[in-house]
Parts: sequence; C-alpha cells; structure tokens
Amino acid sequence: MDVSIIGTGYVGLTTGTCLAFLGHRVTCIDSDERKIAMLQSGQPPIYEPYLAELLAEVAPNLQFCRDYAPAVRDSDVIFIAVGTPPSANGSPDLQYVSAAARGIGEHYAGDFTVVVNKSTVPIGSGNWVDSLVRESYERHHGKKANGHFSVASNPEFLREGTALHDSLYPDRVVIGSDDARSLEVLYSLYRPILDQTFAPPPYLPRPEEMGAVPLVSADLASAELIKYAANAFLALKISYINEIGQLAEKVGADIQQVAKGIGLDARIGTRFLQCGIGWGGSCFGKDTSALVATAAEYGLTMPIVESAREINRRQRERVVDKLLGELKILKGRTIGMLGLAFKPNTDDLREAPAIDIARKLVDRGAKVRVHDPVALERFQQEYPDLAVIGCQTPEEVAEEADALVLVTEWQQYLELDWEALAGRMRSRIILDGRHALDRARLARFGFRYLGIAG
Ligand code: UGA
Repeated sequence: MDVSIIGTGYVGLTTGTCLAFLGHRVTCIDSDERKIAMLQSGQPPIYEPYLAELLAEVAPNLQFCRDYAPAVRDSDVIFIAVGTPPSANGSPDLQYVSAAARGIGEHYAGDFTVVVNKSTVPIGSGNWVDSLVRESYERHHGKKANGHFSVASNPEFLREGTALHDSLYPDRVVIGSDDARSLEVLYSLYRPILDQTFAPPPYLPRPEEMGAVPLVSADLASAELIKYAANAFLALKISYINEIGQLAEKVGADIQQVAKGIGLDARIGTRFLQCGIGWGGSCFGKDTSALVATAAEYGLTMPIVESAREINRRQRERVVDKLLGELKILKGRTIGMLGLAFKPNTDDLREAPAIDIARKLVDRGAKVRVHDPVALERFQQEYPDLAVIGCQTPEEVAEEADALVLVTEWQQYLELDWEALAGRMRSRIILDGRHALDRARLARFGFRYLGIAG
C-alpha cells in the first residue's frame, strides 16, 4: 500500500519504519527541516535501539519529505502522528493535528483514503478531524468530499526504548472507526503483524511465546478512550506500588517482595509494579491530565486518576526528603545523579524526574553532578540554565560526592564498579531511586543503601 505519515516523532517514525519493513511504500512528512535532512542521510533524530539498523534495511521503501503534496496526493492510508503537547490548562494542544488534517484535505487528490489518528487525541477528535479534512478538501477542490475520506483511530501502545519491538510484536491492535471500509484497509495494512507472517529482523527476534495478535475493532470514541484508559491504568499501577511502598517502609516490609507476591496473581500481573521515583515521559502525565480534563467537561471527577498523579508528584519530593534525612543539610553538599532520561534506552527528557529533582537540589544550595549514557548532550542543550555539572562518566559524578542518586536504571549503572566509585566519594551514601541495585553487594563496599521505600 501507499502510506503517508505526518510527523516523525517516536510514534510516526517507528510506525513508518515498521510499515516499510512489512513491504508498504511509506513517505514520512515533517515540517522540521533538520529532522528531514538527518533522516534523508539515514540518521535517526532520536535515540531508539535498532532504529538506525531498521531504517537502513527499509531505505528502498521509505522516503522523507517536508511537503504534503507529493506524498499525500494518492496515498491509500494517511497517518496523523504529530505531537499533542500539553497546553496550560492540561488539555492537549491540537494545533498540529488541525494543521495536518487541513493539509490532507488540501492535497489529497485520489478516490478514497483512510485518515488515521495515531496521535493521542482527546475523545471525540476523530469526528473533528473528519470535519477539518472535508472542509479543507471542499475549499481547495471546489467539490464535495463525500466518499473520499474515512477517519479511523489507531492508538499506539509502544514504549520508548522498546518501540520497534512493541510495534512488531504488539499485545493487540486497536482500530476504531464508524466506517467498515477503514477497518478493511487497516486490516490489510496490519495483516503481517496480526498474523505474524513476516520474517523478523535478526536483531528483533519474535518472542517465543508469540501467537497471532488480537485485533480490537471498535467505534471511534471507544478506540480513543482505550488509549487514555490504558495509559492511566499503567500510571496508577505504578502509583499504587509507590503508595504501598511508603507503608512498606514504615512497617519494615520489603517492597520488592511485596510487588512480586501480589504481581504473581495473574489478575494483577508483575509488570509496572516497580517501586521508585515514579513515572516521567511525555505520555502518562499528559494523558492522565487530559483524562481528568475531559471528565470535567462532562461534569465528572476522576479521583483515582487524580490521586495517582499526586502520588507521582510526591515521589520526586521523597528523593530530597531522603537526602535531607541523611545529610541534614544540603547547602554546599555534592550530590551525584546517575541518569537523566525518563527511563533507560531513550534520550527523551520530557517530564523526566531527573529535571525536577536536580532543580529541587540546586534550589536547596546543593552542588549537583549529573551523567547519562545518551541524554547528557540533549540535556545540556535543553536545560542550559539548570546550574548542574555535566559529567562524561559515572566515576566523574562520584568525585567528592556526599551521596549518589540512581535516577534512571540504565544497565551500565547496574554493572558499575561500585567499589571504585566508593573510593572517590566523600561519604558512601547511595539512594536507589529505582530499587534496581544489589543492596547486599553495595553494603560490602561500605555503602549506606537507601531505597525510595526503605
Ligand atoms: C507509555 C506506555 O507504556 C505505552 O504503552 C504508551 O504507548 C506510551 O506511554 C505512549 O502513550 O506513547 P513510555 O512512556 O514510553 O510508554 O514508557 P513506560 O515504559 O511506560 O515508562 C513510563 C515511566 O514509568 C518511566 O518513567 C518509567 O521509569 C516508569 N515506570 C515504569 C515505573 O516507575 N515503574 C514501573 O514499574 C514501570
């Protein structure tokens, strides 16, 4: 099929690359000249494992351009995968979605295409996009849009850091549309994924237990709500274990054991029960906030989701509280932070807990030294005013430190020579913000180990 994808962020670029890998002819469109130039030269503008390899492999099927006209004109499917950043009142800013919808209406010149909302858009946006596309088509073409367009919602469930794996081997595919033709087209588009008939790239092997992928076909509003409800549920699962973690600390229980003990109940599941600093990233904060804002428009409150947000906010404060409890005074102390990205295997700093924590520590007069295996450069570009010292190695972070904080559980931190690190520190205090380190091993090197929950 001929596919256009508007927006080359994590979602758009991953979707485009995977669809090209399945044999579709894909054009990715982005207004950002720098990004398009990088992609045209084969370089991904984001850090995502195996993306560079897969981009090189699918190059014959994948093009990049800045203009809608050549790509969108006769596409079978057009994805809208632009950003929907949060606006001041918590609801997503839809200006890029609106511009994409209008651009499609202006430039589409074929008989029938499916316009797919891949961006996370508020419930009801499918109908809104439909009206924008039609209005724009009628204005630019001087004829009725009837029958030329069908709008579908196809929410994305990929995680940064494992984006390609999640796209090729999803738990489910959700397609929402009020028009049977869209469903047929998208079913054909995704068939190799649904039936798992493609030959996997060697670096992204198919999981052994993988069978056919369930397809959930729903109406537009249901598909849109599925996306928000799924993200909010994952967010509250994390906040739940963090809330239990606070009690675990008080009663002297081990939160890791507790998480395992409850997670092995198949109705609960072990994943997303990792206690720690809490969630960051561009999705959970924005989507839970949007869910609350949508509910408010209908006169509803969402106390469970609101509490999950509040608990998440408090987790970041716990880092400062724990350090204060231990060091008593932060002014003039040197605190080393390991990890800046909001999770391992990405260079994404959006809503990263590290930023908040660094700011709180600096505000209290601490000298903050930071390291990240891939996000340091991006951090220095995006936060030039945050008065911290960027370090090239974890050893440099540990230099004369009064305490270290593990903020992001990069594999390389778990495998550090902690004995050597200890030798460089002023006092051997480690706050394990992700409950990811080996407490007994650290104790052998003289560390005083603190978890977020005990
Ligand atoms: C999340 C969802 O997991 C995806 O399904 C969804 O597609 C995506 O949002 C989106 O809406 O685009 P992502 O934000 O990339 O994906 O990353 P996650 O793996 O979900 O992690 C989010 C945050 O939660 C990270 O800061 C991570 O450290 C934290 N986390 C995760 C925990 O604190 N504990 C856990 O047990 C799991």
